[in-house]
Amino acid sequence: MRRLDQLLSSLGYCSRREAMAFVKEGRVKQGGVVLKRSDQRVDSALITVDDLPLEAPEGLLAMLHKPVGYACTHSADEGPNIYELLPSHWPDRNPVVTSVGRLDKDTSGLLLMTDIGGLVHRFTSPKAEVEKVYLAELDRELDPQLVEIFAKGDLMLRGEEKPCLPAKLEIVSPKTARLTITEGRYHQVRRMFASQGWHVEKLHRERFGPHELGDLAEGEWRMIPVEQASR
Ligand code: URA
Repeated sequence: MRRLDQLLSSLGYCSRREAMAFVKEGRVKQGGVVLKRSDQRVDSALITVDDLPLEAPEGLLAMLHKPVGYACTHSADEGPNIYELLPSHWPDRNPVVTSVGRLDKDTSGLLLMTDIGGLVHRFTSPKAEVEKVYLAELDRELDPQLVEIFAKGDLMLRGEEKPCLPAKLEIVSPKTARLTITEGRYHQVRRMFASQGWHVEKLHRERFGPHELGDLAEGEWRMIPVEQASR
């Protein structure tokens, strides 16, 4: 049970002061009964605002189909950013909604968004070795030997001390490959190909752990039931 005004402000609906006005206007109900006080303790699962249940009161998980050209940053200085594609009240949630890891500005595809700290850790911890699947378009024809080079687990990236963990490369067409990695090093996919003399011209993430982009349109987002996240 949480105080109503704290609950509404932590979910980005309004400030605690504005919560009082919401209540006065009869917009907030618990189990269908109009609430009279904004400082009373309530059960978030039973609360409605304007007859709609609260949005993800126990924590939010969503996926975004990030288009090329959008930066994974809260800063407005780097041109378009992913938060412009998401509901404008999400940055007002506390804890704030952030991306689980990042994609380069030039990369498109699946980005998980959450305000559940434990999930960020679970998905990004090196120990968890969560699979990330990318489709890469290269500047020239792929060599089948790359499959073994990436799979061996001894590929060194410039400036790093440890080799990359084994990665699975599947050649889809002469200049297109699907790469599955279980780490999240800086520019990892581009640098892995670069280490062997290929330039990645296009990069798109199709899957992150159990979550697939499917037919979600570019620039669109959708909620993921939180229970599903732990699978
Ligand atoms: N690897 C990259 O090089 N870029 C990304 O955005 C993700 C993985």
